[in-house]
Amino acid sequence: MTLTGKVAIVTGGSRGIGRSIARALLERGAHVAITATSDATLATAAADLAKVAGAGTLLPIRADVRRPAEVEQAIGSVAQRFGGIDILVNNAGVGLFRPVAEMSVDEWHQIIDTNLSGVFYCCRSVLPHLRARGGGWIINISSLAGKNAFPEAAAYCASKAGLNAFSEALMQEVRHDGIRVAYVMPGSVRTEFTGRIAGGGDEWKLSPDDVAQVVSDLIAHPSRSLPSRVELRPSRPPRKG
Ligand SMILES: NC(=O)c1ccc[n+]([C@@H]2O[C@H](COP(=O)([O-])OP(=O)(O)OC[C@H]3O[C@@H](n4cnc5c(N)ncnc54)[C@H](OP(=O)(O)O)[C@@H]3O)[C@@H](O)[C@H]2O)c1
Repeated sequence: MTLTGKVAIVTGGSRGIGRSIARALLERGAHVAITATSDATLATAAADLAKVAGAGTLLPIRADVRRPAEVEQAIGSVAQRFGGIDILVNNAGVGLFRPVAEMSVDEWHQIIDTNLSGVFYCCRSVLPHLRARGGGWIINISSLAGKNAFPEAAAYCASKAGLNAFSEALMQEVRHDGIRVAYVMPGSVRTEFTGRIAGGGDEWKLSPDDVAQVVSDLIAHPSRSLPSRVELRPSRPPRKG
């Protein structure tokens, strides 16, 4: 599959899964804008992604998905720079894991505003650009936690369950405009998600590149069909008990 001439935005593209997705799209020739809130991680990602062979152009943008005005401005600047937008990957996400009784109101908002409201702001801003191109892709990075709830993760699980429902409703709204919406639900991925340090003992986990491959495979799928939900699990997690 070649994506030469296509334009993609990957939110949270500075680290982890988002950076792998950005790399995969660049390798296929797309122009890729990545967003994050930290200039430092964006600069590190830009240096790393500049080495990708056969790459399209990379555009790092500081934009917080929790702020609708920043999202609108970022998406407008991508469309202006590259002449349009074809693909949005809503990947930016945070996790804070505590019992409900110990979770602050600010922590609740940080999770819901990033993982759910942020996706709404990005989709709302990008849809006119996708329609102007006659179609495109929105791929939302959810989690198996959106379906399999577990203790001390109420806000995170709720944000991802909400994202799943949002994705299904949006998919039905825009499919007749040639806009394909899918969501990917990975299990544990080897990243530094919310302060976790990747290290020994987690070799069984998914690689960020595994999630990136799913995104590439979705985009390569024939246009008559739409794999709208993908569950992606480590093949051999540690046995329980
Ligand atoms: N790792 C896992 O086990 C796992 C499993 C299933 C699903 N997921 C999902 O996969 C996605 C990526 O996770 P990851 O493990 O790659 O996490 P990560 O390594 O912590 O990367 C998160 C990315 O999101 C950016 N980000 C965070 N808050 C943001 C905001 N408000 N606005 C814009 N960008 C923001 C971060 O950059 P800044 O900090 O600079 O803003 C970073 O680029 C998340 O949606 C997560 O829920 C992860």
